[in-house]
Amino acid sequence: MMINSYLCVISILLAIAKSASACYTSIFSFGDSLSDNGNLLGFSSPKVIHQGRLPNGETYFGRPTGRCCDGRLIVDLIAQNFGLPIPPPFVGIEKGNRRDILAGVNFAVAGAKALDSSFYEEKRISEAVTNATLRVQLRWFKEVLPFLCGPKANCKEFLQSSLTVMGEIGGNDYNHALLQGISKEEVKTFVPSVVGAISSAITDIIQLGALNLIVPGNLPFGCSAAYLTYYYKTSRPDDYDEDTGCINWLNDLSKHHNEVLQIELNGIRELYPHATIIYADYYNSAMRLYRSPKEFGFARALSACCGAGGPYNYNASVGCGDSLSTGCDDPSLYICWDGLHLTEAANKWIVQSLFEGSYSTPPINMICNFVSTGIGHSYQD
Ligand SMILES: *[C@@H]1O[C@H](CO)[C@@H](O)[C@H](O)[C@H]1NC(C)=O
Ligand SMILES: *[C@@H]1O[C@H](CO)[C@@H](O)[C@H](O)[C@H]1NC(C)=O
Repeated sequence: MMINSYLCVISILLAIAKSASACYTSIFSFGDSLSDNGNLLGFSSPKVIHQGRLPNGETYFGRPTGRCCDGRLIVDLIAQNFGLPIPPPFVGIEKGNRRDILAGVNFAVAGAKALDSSFYEEKRISEAVTNATLRVQLRWFKEVLPFLCGPKANCKEFLQSSLTVMGEIGGNDYNHALLQGISKEEVKTFVPSVVGAISSAITDIIQLGALNLIVPGNLPFGCSAAYLTYYYKTSRPDDYDEDTGCINWLNDLSKHHNEVLQIELNGIRELYPHATIIYADYYNSAMRLYRSPKEFGFARALSACCGAGGPYNYNASVGCGDSLSTGCDDPSLYICWDGLHLTEAANKWIVQSLFEGSYSTPPINMICNFVSTGIGHSYQD
């Protein structure tokens, strides 16, 4: 009896593992520095940006890769969990060489915004570090698509078995404005436009043939060492959450963006019922870590591992990798890598929670939407 039930559990686990790895044949990623695994570095000439230097990359890759992280990003881990290779950055691919990109491409660029620069020019908010906005990333996607879909250019069929990770994107639309002194009230008015840009990118991709999308919300801005430092002098004690030490009104901005985004996703789901649009709740998954850091093995919740001093080990004029910065001894004890980005250890907890289903709607692990081949839902076997 015991043995039988063990065997049963094992065969269910094997079935889940099998369906997960057979789920998608490729992965495409759009976004900003939370997902950029080499694009900004590749575009930068001369290669002087700080994420192009150690200790960035030290934990997993043993060398800097352009990621703002000691190791893998959430999108890297999602790809690996589905049995796919980490999608190569767009900047490095040779378009003629299909084999390199058949399993996916990462178009995310550090500093990218959801909205085009014209939106910010009107508001006299100065230019971002990159002009590779979401619209530009989509144009790149359309450029490589004919190379992916082969001589018959049956892109719809190709995209049906692909997974798109749309974001996180939008964080910089708020970041750059707030850090240039724009009031929180004005920044909040950007939310519908930012979500609108994300929505139109999703719609575009679905119309090209994609059926499976993961759309992450924003992380809790008020828990990032960069913001905690920027508002250090002007914050009052009651601006902070007692439990976590995060800044409440900034977290409210993240939550507001996420709510508007989820309402928008519901609308898209109604318009395109054949598509599966998974909301990935980065916010609440990350808040578990800030609320109970020790439970997840973290010794430090809010301070950055890699920085140049200050109350949260963050100095806006010294990036992680700059000569005046230093990394901590053990990044796995930190949630925060460099002030704005998470460590691989934190990314792993978030990805694990998405795959366990509690922070993804509908649950990531239950979805395999293969309409064309009819091999979907193999988890029921
Ligand atoms: C972005 O900026 C670069 C450098 O200034 C320029 O060469 C490029 O054409 C711009 N791209 C877009 C899409 O505006
Ligand atoms: C940040 O770093 C710069 C450059 O080293 C330094 O001049 C400045 O005092 C630092 N700021 C803080 C708040 O430590």
